[in-house]
Amino acid sequence: MKIVIPGGSGQVGTLLGRAFRRDGHEVVEFSRNPSRSRPWRVVAWDGESLGPWAAELEGADAVINLAGRSVNCRYTPENRCAITQSRVASTRVIGKAIAQAARPPRVWLQAATATIYCHRFDAANDEARGILGGSEPGVPDTWNFSVGVATAWERAAAEAGPLPSTRLVLMRTSIVMNPDPGSAFDVLLTLVRFGLGGRASNGRQYVSWIHEIDFIRAVNWILAHPDLSGPVNLAAPNPLPNAAFMQGLRRAWGAPLGLPAAAWMLEIGAFFLRTETELILKSRRVIPTRLLESGFHFTFPEWPAAASELCERWRAGKESAPR
Ligand SMILES: NC(=O)c1ccc[n+]([C@@H]2O[C@H](COP(=O)([O-])OP(=O)(O)OC[C@H]3O[C@@H](n4cnc5c(N)ncnc54)[C@H](OP(=O)(O)O)[C@@H]3O)[C@@H](O)[C@H]2O)c1
Repeated sequence: MKIVIPGGSGQVGTLLGRAFRRDGHEVVEFSRNPSRSRPWRVVAWDGESLGPWAAELEGADAVINLAGRSVNCRYTPENRCAITQSRVASTRVIGKAIAQAARPPRVWLQAATATIYCHRFDAANDEARGILGGSEPGVPDTWNFSVGVATAWERAAAEAGPLPSTRLVLMRTSIVMNPDPGSAFDVLLTLVRFGLGGRASNGRQYVSWIHEIDFIRAVNWILAHPDLSGPVNLAAPNPLPNAAFMQGLRRAWGAPLGLPAAAWMLEIGAFFLRTETELILKSRRVIPTRLLESGFHFTFPEWPAAASELCERWRAGKESAPR
């Protein structure tokens, strides 16, 4: 297949690109910095206006749009604007390019986020019965902002209008866990290694996650299943409360204990790290009903086994890294 990945230079694009190449597919990345050295062809685009890049979609098998300014920052007015605009504009322009293509791609996988669902503890959110966020009483304004971004992002894809030859899938993805330096897993493991991997706040809030192997397998599954369109949750079927999640990680690493962190400590830490606490404190209880009903089996449905495998590879990576 020829698979075009706008915004493919980041964490998720690199995971997918490597896997597609290993499977013998042609990968083309769209980037605002096309001079970066990558193992596949990189084509310049600005993420907001039509250009010569659109020709790459002609006859392509799939487009997987991952573009968007990182959300790992303080939600200042400037960053809020960039987070929203980069997603809405890039999604709109991909929709336009597909709509005007003579031979459009058969499938458009659009990055979206499991953050679109509400903060809840009582039951899990799936695609059919899940409650979207944004109207929970008393949640911080930053959480509502993220739901607003997620909603505007999906709307921008829907506004491409009917695309008779292209199947659109909105990938509502939870945190993708992989052992690469700088990844969410790497950050969490760093806390555990320094004895700080206890529960966050009261530890009741749910963590939704997906192992990178299952993420790549799920993307391939979606590409191969023409019956899947619209929102699809990419999350392991067993989200768990933060306290159990951190305990699973400590056990996998072999850390006897981890200091818990109160919400106010996390707020101070996040301020100095120039990030937000939403990722840790919002209860994300999301399950992948559509994937499961379509027959998808997870290699890592449970966190303890996923955490052990990730710790093992993290250690192996450190041992093989040049000193
Ligand atoms: N990682 C996760 O666990 C996760 C979970 C749920 C959803 N997602 C979503 O999936 C997408 C990919 O995730 P990721 O972790 O790979 O993100 P990432 O590492 O931040 O990469 C996103 C890419 O978007 C491009 N980009 C940044 N700012 C842009 C702008 N202003 N306009 C156009 N493009 C811009 C960048 O490519 P260039 O600099 O090369 O142009 C960057 O490499 C993101 O939209 C993210 O929100 C990720």
